[in-house]
Amino acid sequence: MIDQRMADSINDQINAEMFSAYLYQSMAAWFADQNFNGMATWMTAQAQEEMIHAMKFYNYLIERGGTVLLKQIDSPPTEWASPLAAFEAALDHERYITERINKMMDLAIDIRDHAAKGLLQWYVDEQVEEEANATDNVEKLRMVGDAGNAKYMLDKEFGTRPVLFTIPVSAAD
Ligand SMILES: [Fe+2]
Ligand SMILES: [Fe+2]
Repeated sequence: MIDQRMADSINDQINAEMFSAYLYQSMAAWFADQNFNGMATWMTAQAQEEMIHAMKFYNYLIERGGTVLLKQIDSPPTEWASPLAAFEAALDHERYITERINKMMDLAIDIRDHAAKGLLQWYVDEQVEEEANATDNVEKLRMVGDAGNAKYMLDKEFGTRPVLFTIPVSAAD
């Protein structure tokens, strides 16, 4: 049976990962509205990955005999001053998530929950990649600055990221 402190912490993190999905999907909507369709695709793929992060914790908690509690998800912001500002906000958010994961690992070590340590190590490694990608994106946006042509090309590049799944519905359905 899982320690209640770890179960509580995992439930809070399921919420944080689902909020991450909300945040990136909100950025995707804003990018689409600004006609940066490639960046919108990139953020949709990112939102999908965050749901996978949430579900990995969800499945683990069930496997360990814990109770999943889906709490209210906060509303994310809906607009940003520029594409650069949105990607900077994404980087800040990833740094915040890394801090949370590190605190969860501290708890797992404190209470000698070796199974949770194994799970959390996956997230520690994932956050290294998440921060690296987010930093890379910010640097690309800074490099192109206000040059319309370069921004257009960069948007195309962002659009090459594959989404994990597409939702087969249209407004006509
Ligand atoms: Fe995540
Ligand atoms: Fe993330």
